[in-house]
Amino acid sequence: FLSAVRSFRVIAGEQRTGLLFTTAVASRQFSDNIYSKQQDCPDRERSRSVTSFYFQSAIDQAANKPSVRLTPAAILYSGKSNDDSHILRSAQYLHKELPVRIAHRIAGFRGLPFIIGCNPTILQVHELYIRAFHILSEFPPVVDLDIEKDFSDTLRTLLDDHKDVVTLLAEGFGECRRHIKDENLIKGFLDKTLTSRLGIRMLAEHHLALHTETRPNYVGIVNVGFSPRKLIEKKADFVRNVCQAKYGFSPDVKLNGHVNATFPYIAPPLDYILTELLKNALRSTVESNLESLQNMPAVYVTVAVNEEDFVIRISDRGGGIPHSYVNKVWDYNFTTSGNLADDRIDGGLFGQVMNASNSGPMPGKMHGYGFGLPTAKAYAQYLGGSLTIETMSGIGTDVYLRLAHIDGKRESFRI
Ligand code: ADP
Ligand code: COI
Repeated sequence: FLSAVRSFRVIAGEQRTGLLFTTAVASRQFSDNIYSKQQDCPDRERSRSVTSFYFQSAIDQAANKPSVRLTPAAILYSGKSNDDSHILRSAQYLHKELPVRIAHRIAGFRGLPFIIGCNPTILQVHELYIRAFHILSEFPPVVDLDIEKDFSDTLRTLLDDHKDVVTLLAEGFGECRRHIKDENLIKGFLDKTLTSRLGIRMLAEHHLALHTETRPNYVGIVNVGFSPRKLIEKKADFVRNVCQAKYGFSPDVKLNGHVNATFPYIAPPLDYILTELLKNALRSTVESNLESLQNMPAVYVTVAVNEEDFVIRISDRGGGIPHSYVNKVWDYNFTTSGNLADDRIDGGLFGQVMNASNSGPMPGKMHGYGFGLPTAKAYAQYLGGSLTIETMSGIGTDVYLRLAHIDGKRESFRI
């Protein structure tokens, strides 16, 4: 019986492989310049990728290795040298580590239920990871700073080629929602894929930032004098502009608590989380105050910093989350966007005005894929923290984001 199952999986795997290739060729959106640079022959990349679908052994071998996760302190403060040998060491670590992590991701895609793994958008992302695996694992040993420069260029291009992965996954899983029988399986896959990707990108960005060591206050991607206030103000401005463009009005965002605190931190993941949380708070405020748009209650952001962790609370008076779906908001692809009966929001004249301004100079959407909260929570947990909601249905919502310090007293999280 087992061998029958196995041979079915082999056939299924081959069918999937065929699809994978078709998708890859049909919708190749990324640049081909990495391979053309190394071998002047993009066609060869294609034929190698195809071969690799049949000879999975390199990927399987790498997927069996454990990844080497380091504490932020180990990665970020490891001895800076005058001869740039720290940059060389960092590249050597990534050259070894990234193929292992990417192979784990590929194993994740291969483990998805067949009908979901066949979705063209999900296949496209799967193929991106196979391609990245080959590019990185076939890169020559990084023995000197000249090769390191090529390695860094390759990394930069890969980061760019993968920039839309979260959106593609949100679209892909949205498309095959109706085939999803086991919500936990998908949640497990997405939590793992998205946080592992966050770690990979942080490591890669950190490495690239080591080259531009001229920014004051920065070691790689660590801002040693990080100010939560500055980031919150910047994000509040951004989200208020998106809100204004979409609805024509925006509530104020007011800040209180430990507003003058500074400490070492890595801003990019927090940047993402805050954007998602502020969008939700502003959206609910607008949508529950349609009769008094010029006089909406402000959204309050409170910061508390202590030696163990720091906490950011976002409080809105946006009507809260009804009991009927409060537990669903952590599911990937759960959204009430588009469910609103009031045509002043997503339809009617107002809607047309909003759509026109969305394609203008202020990009960004207020809501849509239902990925904001689950992704933000997964990131917060990956960074040694948590994200929780206390909602007062009928009044408003408080969201608590707790994050560990990167050099705190507690045992550190690992990237
Ligand atoms: P999206 O914003 O794309 O809908 P999210 O995962 O960020 O996805 O949020 C999921 C849903 O949770 C939202 O559609 C909304 O119904 C609800 N929600 C999230 N935050 C709030 C809030 N502050 N107040 C009321 N409802 C909220
Ligand atoms: C991603 O962004 O999806 C990555 O894994 C980046 C990596 C290929 C450098």
